[in-house]
Amino acid sequence: MTLPATSTHPRDRQDPQTWWRSAVVYQIYPRSYADGNGDGVGDIAGIRSRLPYLAALGVDAIWISPWYPSPMKDAGYDVADYRDIEPVFGTLADADAMIAEAHELGIKVIIDIVPNHFSDQHPWFGEALAAGPGSPERERFVFREGRGPGGDLPPNDWESTFGGPAWRRTTNPDGTPGQWYLHLFTPEQPDVNWHSPDIRKEFETTLEFWFDRGVDGFQIDVAHGLVKDASLPDVAGLGFPFDDDSDAELNHPHWDQPGVHEIYRSWRAIAERYTPARAFVAEAWVGRPARLAAYVRPDELHTAFNFEFLKAPWTPRQLRGVIRSTLASHAGVGAPATWVLANHDVPREVSRYARPQELLEPIQVGLDDLLPLPADFDLGRRRARAAALLMLSLPGSAYVYQGEELGLPEVEDIPEASLQDPIFTQTGGTLRGRDGCRVPVPWTRDPESYGFSPAGSPEPWLPQPRDWAELSVAAQEGDPGSMLELYRSALALRRNLGLGVGEVAWVDAGADVVAFRRGDGFECRVNLGATPVDLPADAGVLLASGDVEGGVLPTDTAVWLAMGRIEG
Ligand code: GLC
Repeated sequence: MTLPATSTHPRDRQDPQTWWRSAVVYQIYPRSYADGNGDGVGDIAGIRSRLPYLAALGVDAIWISPWYPSPMKDAGYDVADYRDIEPVFGTLADADAMIAEAHELGIKVIIDIVPNHFSDQHPWFGEALAAGPGSPERERFVFREGRGPGGDLPPNDWESTFGGPAWRRTTNPDGTPGQWYLHLFTPEQPDVNWHSPDIRKEFETTLEFWFDRGVDGFQIDVAHGLVKDASLPDVAGLGFPFDDDSDAELNHPHWDQPGVHEIYRSWRAIAERYTPARAFVAEAWVGRPARLAAYVRPDELHTAFNFEFLKAPWTPRQLRGVIRSTLASHAGVGAPATWVLANHDVPREVSRYARPQELLEPIQVGLDDLLPLPADFDLGRRRARAAALLMLSLPGSAYVYQGEELGLPEVEDIPEASLQDPIFTQTGGTLRGRDGCRVPVPWTRDPESYGFSPAGSPEPWLPQPRDWAELSVAAQEGDPGSMLELYRSALALRRNLGLGVGEVAWVDAGADVVAFRRGDGFECRVNLGATPVDLPADAGVLLASGDVEGGVLPTDTAVWLAMGRIEG
């Protein structure tokens, strides 16, 4: 490979039909990104004001977590109307303007779709309650009679992901106890019935509505959950996620049912009708890479989040293993891999990597799993810097969660009175939940909301730590040692070198070093061992996550190398 020393604008080189194969997508959690109207909650005006920042950061696309009208029982993942904008965030006109402005800057726009459940405030759910048992209106959801005398027991043993039974009983108009309805998340998020043609049609109309407005793609929430085994059998202790390596055909009654694939084939056909290509990314927590690959077969979804990468502890064996299995399983179906270190549901990677990695079970990704473990946050930051270079040197699409580029840690001590995540209430306060990664972004050193809201606004919706001034964008901008500048440099190099496409050739640099070549001139090396290692003598350092002076790669450090001659 010839490493270009100067840049032509890489967006010009991206194939408009396959932009999603190598895109770096920046996740915006709108409540916490930027508050334009001064009410303490982020909004579309805030996002619009930060689009130039995102263009300068060098991302190809943004993904915006749900912005639809919502009672906010699950921070917007409880949608009351899929074809409008939540007033707290703005209006449809604001959304249109934002999409247009992003496109002007060469940034694609991906939005969230939540097809597993509605909000209980969606008109269809009210109609279903009013229409009574056996009605077509109830067919759109999962209503059943209870078990046991008087139907007093839930229809089966399914549990809500957030704790407690997955069923809530309704009350008949005459005050007597009625049927139960299924909710795999909060009781205010009734699951919809994907065996119902109305539901299928409704979501297809929604996809077209937003595609017609210029949206470039959708993130599909809980993509593995839509279809339930219609006989609703007990789960009976069948574990999830499916993390075993056996070939046994697991048949879970509500996760990863084969019927989901037919839905995604029909969605793909809708996306294919548009130019430039629209794309999907699935949130499918299905464990084994081979199961995930089924979602990205050529006539299904374009991409799917690689949560195995996010969950992998910081060890050479685990990281090598997950990169290998990801590349192999995706190559088998011709789909690009994705790489993700963080999102709005998991503790930030600085705080995960701050913990002794040998104590982290790969499937534990909740803050409550981390809290009992000792933490070294300087180490966590070093590793997070190295992880960023590792991720951005791999082929495929990569996701950056807002604040990741600032090296924000998880906020682990939000006062209980301020916690908003339904996990906290639904577990009776035993689990703190996900608010710690949702704290509003610090833009300036100004201690009053760090520039998140205009001066004089009410407090942000979640309290920000007192020591975040030096983590703000203003503090990091222009500081070559900052996380922000590391991300900017890495994103620019990734584009210029075309790292988003192509193959990985493993290099043997010792058991503790994850090392691979891309093309014939670029190498990424990450030292995960306990001692520094020498770098090859003929290597030129393109970028490093730490100090690599003297040809030595320190521990928990990554480096991008140009091997041999660089042509410019
Ligand atoms: C997804 C979202 C999460 C939400 C859940 C229910 O996992 O990422 O935030 O709570 O779906 O919609």
